[in-house]
Amino acid sequence: MTKKKTKVLVLHGPNLNLLGEREPEVYGKMTLSQLNTKLKAHGQNSFELRIKQSNHEGQLIDLIHANRKWAAAIVINPGALTHYSYALRDALAAVNLPVYEVHLSDIHAREEFRKVSVIRDISVAQISGKGFGSYTEALDLIAAAPLKKAKGK
Ligand code: DQA
Repeated sequence: MTKKKTKVLVLHGPNLNLLGEREPEVYGKMTLSQLNTKLKAHGQNSFELRIKQSNHEGQLIDLIHANRKWAAAIVINPGALTHYSYALRDALAAVNLPVYEVHLSDIHAREEFRKVSVIRDISVAQISGKGFGSYTEALDLIAAAPLKKAKGK
């Protein structure tokens, strides 16, 4: 019998469409489409991934709402929205799914404003600074504990 795959919504926020050309010394040379292909390959045995990118806060919120009954967990790189978007935070809290916050760069080793995340405390984990590995670590954590939710939720 084939094992049922865990459905995960993967969201990339503003400016991540420019990966590969955007500050490669910070974010690496991999394009978003290469990253998504590698992520699907990493998760192919255990996960069904729905992957979306948007530069718009409201669009990300709509995607969270629209997929709330489909997804078992959310992996999100909110980009700069991480640092100030209470609307995105509220949307993630509202759907009551386990959230994994990921960042390519180490947000704790850069500018002061990046150290603040309004998403962190409604997330199961914040994984930062591991490049593509931040995303695979999130999937590995979900595989290890698919039903875990953040304490505050
Ligand atoms: C980022 C870090 C954010 O501070 C930044 O605004 C991004 C990308 C990262 O993946 O390292 O857009 O989330």
